[in-house]
This record gives sequence, structure tokens and C-alpha cells, in this order.
Amino acid sequence: MHTALVFSTVEPGDGQRWSTWPAITPSQRGPEPWPDWVVTSSGAIDTELGVVKTGKEADLHLIERFDPGLTPADPPVKRSILAAKRYRTLEHRDFHRSAEYQEGRRTRRSRDERAVAKGTAYGRSFAAGMWAFAEFEALSAMHSAGAPVPYPVQVDGTELLMEFIGAGTTAAPRLAQSRAELAELRSLLDQVIDAMHLFARAGYVHGDLSAYNLLVHEGRVVVIDLPQIVDAVANPNGIGMLHRDCVNIAEWFTRKRVEVDAEELFGELLAELY
Ligand SMILES: Nc1ncnc2c1ncn2[C@@H]1O[C@H](COP(=O)(O)OP(=O)(O)OP(=O)(O)O)[C@@H](O)[C@H]1O
Ligand SMILES: [Mg+2]
Repeated sequence: MHTALVFSTVEPGDGQRWSTWPAITPSQRGPEPWPDWVVTSSGAIDTELGVVKTGKEADLHLIERFDPGLTPADPPVKRSILAAKRYRTLEHRDFHRSAEYQEGRRTRRSRDERAVAKGTAYGRSFAAGMWAFAEFEALSAMHSAGAPVPYPVQVDGTELLMEFIGAGTTAAPRLAQSRAELAELRSLLDQVIDAMHLFARAGYVHGDLSAYNLLVHEGRVVVIDLPQIVDAVANPNGIGMLHRDCVNIAEWFTRKRVEVDAEELFGELLAELY
């Protein structure tokens, strides 16, 4: 008699791979408890669904992760749509911007630091991985602090997988493109300010807050694009970056006829820091 070894007959095909979840270390996985939609089975397959948006420093792809080995009789059957943010390792990435955020941050090995500084191929890919990990850690910290950010599922090299904000496979619009009316804009502003308070209370500044890095999904604001998040007090540019975030937000809403005073907001947030 053969021992009943049951293997899934499904193998990853074109545009597919085995789920990368089983191979990564615990520190590369999102904060526990994992949301119930996170697929953790080792037989799961990731399927590329396409590019959502190409950005300056990373491209956002959509993937579906599901376990074909599970049938409806073996609960839980899980299938989730994930946003895969893949950092670029190429020259045209914007490294000038990096210096401001990197101050006060040290990489563990000086060989890596030198490689990054010299812009060698190894250095570029190391830097891309560093940004992915920095964003993963920032999302983890902010998610744990209760801020409205996508749940960070995992990070693996230059790829960050996170909760996809949208309906089906359609991404939520950025605040900059939302057609919100005045009443909704007031609610959105309140939510942005609440989120800024949560960041400040946790000791962080987003550092690149604008109507382009805020998504609006079913009337709720979600803050995205966090790789450059800085320690508000320890980073010598922290307070200046907080001020800039306040000005960006206040100017955008004020242009939409929802008046907000940047200096007042800045003062309130500073009070959270000390
Ligand atoms: N979790 C998500 N769910 C849905 N859409 C997302 C998510 N994360 C990012 N996006 C979309 O992808 C775009 C790029 O993401 P992000 O801002 O994080 O990267 P970026 O490289 O800084 O891009 P950019 O140069 O446009 O700022 C966002 O503007 C948004 O439209
Ligand atoms: Mg962005």
C-alpha cells in the first residue's frame, strides 16, 4: 500500500509563483494578530494581476494570493488581493531626496553604507531593499499605533506586500483626484488631522504628506507612502518636515475652501511630541 501523500496538482504557471510567505522570517511578517484575510498556507500561489501605478521610486503591482489546494470543505479558504510595492534598483531612482531622511539612520554594516554612497549595483539593490524594509517597519509601527494605514503583510527584499485599498481590483482614488463635496472634505480633513496626531503621538513625522499620498476609500482616509517616515525629535530635519507636512495639507484643503491654519495645526502636533 502507498502512503497517502497528497500533493496539490496545481503548479505555478506564467505570471505566478509560490507564495513567498512560508520562506520569510517572522520579522518580515506583519504585526500579529494577522488579519483573517492574510493567507499563510504554504501551498498558496501568488498570481500577478498587473501594474496599478508606476511611481518615481517604486511600482505598485496587484497580486492575488490563494491556496488552490483548499476546497470549500477545508476551511478557511482564503484568497486575497494584495498590493505589491516593488522598489526600483535603477539609477533613475531619486536618491537626492534620500539624504535628508537618512540622517541619523545608520545601516548595520559600513560596507553596505559605502556601497550605497558609491551607487554600485550592489549598493543600489541594497538601498532599494532598505527602503522597502523602512516602509514595512513604518507601516507596522503606525498600524500598531492605530493609524489608518494599509496593513503590512510582509517584506521580502525589494518587495513590500500590503493590504490593497480599493474595491475588487480597482484602487481607491487619491485625495487629489477625489470628487468629494465640501461636507465630505471637512470629514476627510478631520481624519487627516487625527492621523497626523497619531503619527506625532508615536513620535513620527510622515515627511511626504500630500493629497497624493492619501487614499480615500468609502469615505475613509488611508495614509500611504511611508518609507521616509522619520523620528520627529531625533532626526535633525524632523520638526522642519512636520512643518512642511502641515503646510502641504493646510494649503490643499484651504484651496478647496476648507480653511485650516497650518501654524495652528503645527503647534498642536508639536505639543504631542514634547
Ligand atoms: N495599499 C495600496 N492600495 C491601493 N493603492 C495603492 C496602495 N499603495 C499605493 N497605491 C497607489 O500607488 C501609488 C504609488 O504608491 P506610493 O505613493 O506608495 O509610491 P511612490 O513610489 O511614492 O509613488 P509616487 O512617486 O507616485 O508618489 C499611490 O499613489 C496609489 O495610487
Ligand atoms: Mg507616493
